[in-house]
Amino acid sequence: MEFHGSTTPSIQYSTTPVPVTVLAFETSCDETSVAVVRDGKVLSSVVSSQIKLHAEYGGVVPELAAREHLRNLLPVAQTALREAQVGANELDGVAATQGPGLPTALLIGFRAAQAAAFVLRKPFIGINHHEAHLYSPWITVSGVLPASCRQNTLHNRSDKKIPLGQADFSDFEPNVSLIVSGGHTMLVLVESELKHRVLGSTMDDAAGECFDKTGKLMGLAYPAGPEIDRLAEQGNPKAFDFPRPLLNSGNDDFSFSGLKTSVRYFLRDNPALLDDAQKIRDLCASIQAAIVDVLVTKTIRAAKRSDVRCVTASGGVTCNRALRSELKRVCDREGFTLRLAERSLCTDNAAMIGILAERKLAQCAAGILPAEPSSESLDSDINPGWVLA
Ligand code: KG4
Ligand code: ZN
Repeated sequence: MEFHGSTTPSIQYSTTPVPVTVLAFETSCDETSVAVVRDGKVLSSVVSSQIKLHAEYGGVVPELAAREHLRNLLPVAQTALREAQVGANELDGVAATQGPGLPTALLIGFRAAQAAAFVLRKPFIGINHHEAHLYSPWITVSGVLPASCRQNTLHNRSDKKIPLGQADFSDFEPNVSLIVSGGHTMLVLVESELKHRVLGSTMDDAAGECFDKTGKLMGLAYPAGPEIDRLAEQGNPKAFDFPRPLLNSGNDDFSFSGLKTSVRYFLRDNPALLDDAQKIRDLCASIQAAIVDVLVTKTIRAAKRSDVRCVTASGGVTCNRALRSELKRVCDREGFTLRLAERSLCTDNAAMIGILAERKLAQCAAGILPAEPSSESLDSDINPGWVLA
């Protein structure tokens, strides 16, 4: 895979943002999502998840993901516009995840968004998926999820509409942000809005991948993270002592493949454990405790060293209840303000892409949006290996 720098057009920021309405697309992995965002408000955000489809294969199959995005993108976009009650002529800009992600999956949303921008003659902006995660903890979910939105409506996939939300940056403060998902684990210092620096990231497996792979070793279905969370609730986290990789490494990097290997050898040597339901719960609690311990300890250490008073967290693993409560406990103890992404916004969604895109577009030079999409933005390509700097 070729890794290259971002081709997103650079934007000049001013201090006088103007309200803009953005149509945002997210297809970096296995969620097809489209959102409409206006002036910091999420008017609609529709997510069509492919989890059930990929569960059969024990992981995301890129070619299948791309086909599903292709099938679902238009109905998801139509639903998002309808629910937002926004006409295409009211849009001021179009955004899409440019990277990182699965190339074939990214292509679907990115090219569709560029085509929409071209037809609507509106500015187009490519967004770094991880940069968008950084701001999702600042989105407060305010609406109530209507019952109808919990049902599967698109091709029998599990679809959900994220409740209406509002991004509130009025009390924004510098923070250390933990992004923790199936593909990534990283710590980022967010010094001010739209200004950040990556402190460390995983050298091998991501934390979510560790949940999923150790779960698979125990015979749990993909993705195992939520099931480990559930089983761990009635397990003893001290029953088994698994390693805490890089806990005292002196840097902000992570490594979880050693923990996975340790669980593999432990189960090879103690296969009978898997015949005992309580032992499985204990295993889940012990593995979860090791992952959470590393994540929380390193996050707090980075926050202390960075001299910030705020910690934020986002990404699918932030749904984990032990991680949420342990972050809360330690942040309270150490005097940090904690902002966790709302559960519905932890996993991949276009709302966070739209919020960041709107933020960037709204702060365009002198508050005047370009009347046309730039040819540079329409010619730009996906960037599957786009590393957040
Ligand atoms: O952010 P996400 O939806 O997708 C990407 O990987 O980008 O994260 C999915 C990951 C999976 O590894 C899944 O097992 C994990 O998040 N996950 C959890 C929980 N819910 C989702 N891990 C632990 N506990 C959970 N409750
Ligand atoms: Zn993500």
